Order: sequence, then structure tokens, then C-alpha cells
Amino acid sequence: MATPLSVDWRNYSASSAVVLVSHSAAFHCVILFPRRAFADLVRPVESEDAALCSVNQARASALTRSSSSLASTRTILDGELNGIREAGTWKAERVIVSPQGPMIQVEGQTATILNFCANNYLGLSSHPAVIEAGKKALDTHGAGLSSVRFICGTQDIHKELEEKIARFHGREDTILYISCFDANAGIFEVLLSPEDAVISDELNHASIIDDLESHLKNSQNLRQRLIATDGVFSMDGNVAPLNEICALADKYNALVFIDECHATGFFGKTGRGTEEYWGLDGKVDIINSTLGKALGGAAGGYTTGPKQLIDLLRQRSRPYLFSNTLPPPVVACASKAFDLVMENPDLPKKVVSNTKRFRSRMTDAGFTVAGDPEHAICPVMLGDARLASQFADKMLELGIYVIGFSYPVVPKGKARIRVQISASHSEQEIDRAVDAFIKIGRELSVIA
Ligand SMILES: Cc1ncc(COP(=O)(O)O)c(C=O)c1O
Repeated sequence: MATPLSVDWRNYSASSAVVLVSHSAAFHCVILFPRRAFADLVRPVESEDAALCSVNQARASALTRSSSSLASTRTILDGELNGIREAGTWKAERVIVSPQGPMIQVEGQTATILNFCANNYLGLSSHPAVIEAGKKALDTHGAGLSSVRFICGTQDIHKELEEKIARFHGREDTILYISCFDANAGIFEVLLSPEDAVISDELNHASIIDDLESHLKNSQNLRQRLIATDGVFSMDGNVAPLNEICALADKYNALVFIDECHATGFFGKTGRGTEEYWGLDGKVDIINSTLGKALGGAAGGYTTGPKQLIDLLRQRSRPYLFSNTLPPPVVACASKAFDLVMENPDLPKKVVSNTKRFRSRMTDAGFTVAGDPEHAICPVMLGDARLASQFADKMLELGIYVIGFSYPVVPKGKARIRVQISASHSEQEIDRAVDAFIKIGRELSVIA
């Protein structure tokens, strides 16, 4: 399976240099090295002059660049592109010409398509109240701030949303980012130093807890140990064993960080996520999540946790300091989505009942569906990469939009179709998808 933790090594290495101490086991232990040792990787953030100077140099060289240098760059890029095509890992994009929802219109298709591959778990991406809130904010707060937060980019609605998210998670404070990718990229170099370690999962297999315990034992001399995991793994629909992770964190005095992108708003009894699912409310120290999936699906991410951490992130987190403010309509859409989740505890219940219906009918038909029985990510395991892509194409011919995932996104031989269930799917739509799976599954001899 692909590295399940989205806060992966690329993020660490982009901002603070790291070294992998152990990668033979499920949990990785990473010691952070000082950033100044890797100064050439890091843009001099305090010096606007230096940045300006490099821009001017780039402009000058663009003007004098010979056509032959561009020609050789094109050759290099063509080589890379061909390599991707030949490896069969080219990602083509289908163009949707309608709002996101259970039924969508796709360019080139006359019929509407039943959509099972969006992260629109609660169906709020085109909910009328969410759209209305976005439109209103456009009128009252404008299209955007033309600024980062700390210069002149903080509006009342940004503060209100941060407070709302902190309340939703029962945390002290929250900081908004333009994406959860940025929230993940921003946190580690602020919180951790060379005296600390981050222990992070790569494989979610049975030995996960043994590996974690041994890393915790072996790193007791360090100042802080941060256990970092996804709450729910996006390719497998597996839930992290947070109960055991938190127990070990208590035992060895470590911190716990979770990425809740595939849990916030819809997983756990009232949508509070993986902590709630395990009955561990308040046990996790730091939560990162996205506004770009269940919560309206527009964009944005956040870190929620201890006040001092949030205060320090506002001072030091580079994606926060050097990227534009979340646009007001996006803030308003997410804020309304949180209201809807808090007012309608039935929304997460609908995700679970739809999920159970899909999973049980598929299993009865003979398919292997991986992941947690209650989680809306339902990977239909097919094994072979070509079979997965052929299967998905045939599903589209029947009007069902699903995507096949294969290596390198998931391990070799573990190709699958990842079905994502939403509260906005009707039971008839779930049944239609299952019927299509059964028809094609028989045609391709996946099931009897
Ligand atoms: C587990 C996980 N973390 C982080 C992200 C990034 O979220 P965002 O789209 O808000 O940057 C994703 C998005 O796919 C994700 O699946």
C-alpha cells in the first residue's frame, strides 16, 4: 500500500531535513536535523530583497535564454512524460461540467453519471445552504484578501471559523491554512527540533503496535516524541488503532498527531472523527484536517490543538506565513458545513447505513471489500492493475463513475477500485452501483 500518511517524507524534507532511522518496521522513526544545515534548500524567508533579486535574475535570464536550452528542456520533459505513459501510470482527468454531487455530468457523456469517487462524504459540496453561505460572503466580504493572514488577510469570519472548529473538536485553538497539505507541511518544523523524533506509520499491518512500542522504548532519551498517523487510511479505508496508540503514548510520554482528512465530519457517531470512533475524545494532542472533503469540499485545512502550538504556528509556520488567506466564500461554505454537521447528527449515520448496505451486498455477491466495515472508503480488491482499469471503464459505460487504483499508488498486485460512499447517495443509487459491479464482475470472471 502507498505510504498512508499524507504528511509523508516529501513534506518533512521540503521544510526541515530529516533522516530515516528505521524503515524496516511498520512505524518509522525520524530524527530531525537542523534546517540551517540544509540552508540551500530553504528560501531566505526574512529577506524580501533576496527574493526580489532572484526574481529579477530569473527575468533577465528568461530574456536571454536561448531557444536551444528550452529545446533541450522539452526533450527532458518529453522523456519524463513518456516514462509515465509507458509505466501505465498516466493520470487522465475526466472533465465534469456540473456541480459535484452524487449525479454529475461529464464532458463527452450524454447521460448523467452516478458518482462514487468523490470525497464528498456528506454530500455538502453542492448543498443549497452551503452555496448560499458562499454567495453571501462574496457580497459581504469580497472575493479574496490579496494578502497573507498576518499582513492584512484576517477577517472576522476567519476568526469565527477557527473558533468553531476548535469547539467542534473540543480543542483550545485552531489555525486555518489554504489546504491540509499545507497544514501538514507547516507543523513539523515548528514543533520539532533535532532533539525530537517523529514516529510515523508506513504500513498498517498487524505488527504496527509492536514496532511503535520498540521505537518509543528506543527513543526515550529524546526531548519530545510525536507519533504521527492518519486517522483513516485513504487507500484502504482502515482505521488506525488509536486506542492502542494512545495507550502507548501515555505509557511512554509521547504526543499523538492524527491526520483526519478522511474522518472529520462524517466518521464517529457525530462526525468528530477517529477519536470519537474509538471513544477517546480529547486523547489525541494535535489534529490536522481538511475542509476540502466532507466539509463543503471547497478547500482549506487546519491544525487544532493546544493554544501555545497554534500561537507558535501563527508566528513560524511557513505555509501559513507565506501563502494567501483562505478566500471568504470558501470560509463561509466551510463554516456552514460545520453548522450542518453539528445540527444534523443523522448525517454521519446516513454515511454508515449506506456504507453497510454497499459492503454487505458486495460481499454477498463474492467481492472482497477491504477496510473498516463502517468506513465510507470501500476498496473493492481486484489485484491486477489492468483488470482494475478495465473494470472502471466498463462501470463508466454503465453510468457509474469509479476509479481503479494500482501501483505505485497502492502496492503491486493490490489493484482495486476505491468506492467512496456519501450520505447523499440514495439506497437505489447504492443498489445500482452494486448491480453494475455484479454484472461486470461476472463478465470479467471476478465473481462467479
Ligand atoms: C490523508 C490526507 N491528508 C491530507 C490531504 C490533503 O488535503 P488538502 O486537499 O486539504 O490539501 C489529503 C488529500 O487528499 C489526504 O487524503
